[in-house]
Amino acid sequence: MRVSLILLLTILIMACTNEEVIRDFDLQGHRGARGLLPENTIPSFIKAIDYGVDTIEFDLVMTKDRQILISHEPWFDHKISTKPDGTPVTEEEQRDFNIFEMTYEETQQFDVGVRGNPNFPNQQPMEATKPLMSDAIRAIEEYSAEKGLPPVAYNIETKSVPDEYGEFYPYPEEFAQLLYEELNKLHEDFDLFGRIIIQSFDPATLIEFRKLDDQIDQAMLVYDERQMQEYIDELGYTPEIWSPHYPLVTPEMVKEADERGMKVIPWTINTVMEMQRQLDMGVHGIITDYPDSAAVLR
Ligand code: G3P
Ligand code: CA
Repeated sequence: MRVSLILLLTILIMACTNEEVIRDFDLQGHRGARGLLPENTIPSFIKAIDYGVDTIEFDLVMTKDRQILISHEPWFDHKISTKPDGTPVTEEEQRDFNIFEMTYEETQQFDVGVRGNPNFPNQQPMEATKPLMSDAIRAIEEYSAEKGLPPVAYNIETKSVPDEYGEFYPYPEEFAQLLYEELNKLHEDFDLFGRIIIQSFDPATLIEFRKLDDQIDQAMLVYDERQMQEYIDELGYTPEIWSPHYPLVTPEMVKEADERGMKVIPWTINTVMEMQRQLDMGVHGIITDYPDSAAVLR
C-alpha cells in the first residue's frame, strides 16, 4: 500500500512538473532509517544502507567512562526506552537515567527498540541497545564491504547544550578531543576521512573540533532565523554546510549559502512532496527518516 502510494506520488510529480525527476543529491538516513527501525541502532543503519543512502546520520553523547555512545538524548527517552527490570522508562524519571553518569556497561542494560516509537507507527519494534560509535561504524563498514556496496559517508552530530556541560554533556574541548581520537583509530582501518561531516547545534564543539582538524567538513545545524553571518562570526570561519530545519529554507537562503561556498542540507524531511520542493530550491542533500521514500527521487 505504502509503496504504491509512493509510486503514485512520483508519477503525479512527474506529470505536474514535466521534468526529469532523477536527481543527484546526498541522501542521508536520519538516525539510520528511523521511520522503519529503532533509531540510532545498528539495524537501523543497515536498513538505511539497504535503501541506498549516501550518508548515515547519527547523534553522539558520552558515558561516564568516556565511551562515545550513539544516542539522541543524553538519557533514556521515555517514548522508546525500557529499564533493566523490563518496565518502561517514564517521562518523570527519564532524566534520572543520565548517560553521562552511567558506564557503557550500565547503558547496555536498557532496551531502546522493543517498544517501538509512537511517533513512527510503521517502525518495526525489535530488541536493541544504544551502540558505541566505533561498533556501529565497524558494522556498517563490514556490511557495505560484504555486500559489495560503495562505502557510505557519516554525518556525525555532537549533542551538546551549553547550560548542561558537565551535567549531561562533556565540555566541548573534551568531546572534540575524544571524538577526534576515536575517528583517527577508525580511519586506520576504514579510510574514513573524506567521508565524514561533523554537525552540531552548538558552535563550541565545532570550533573545538576544527582546532584539531581543518580538513573534515562541518555542518552548522540551525533551527532559528539568525543570519548566516552571525553564525559565521561566532564560529570564526565558514562551515562547509548550512543545515537548517527544512521550513526555514528559501531560494534566497540557498543562493546566499552558495555565494558563501556552503552547501545546504536541511533536516528532517519525511514526505516525497517536501523533498521535491526542497530539491527544486537547490538544496544539496535531504536528511530523512524514510530513505525508502526518498529513493524514488533518483
Ligand atoms: O541532522 C540534523 C538533525 O538530526 C537535527 O535534529 O534533533 O533529530 O538531531 P535532531
Ligand atoms: Ca541528529
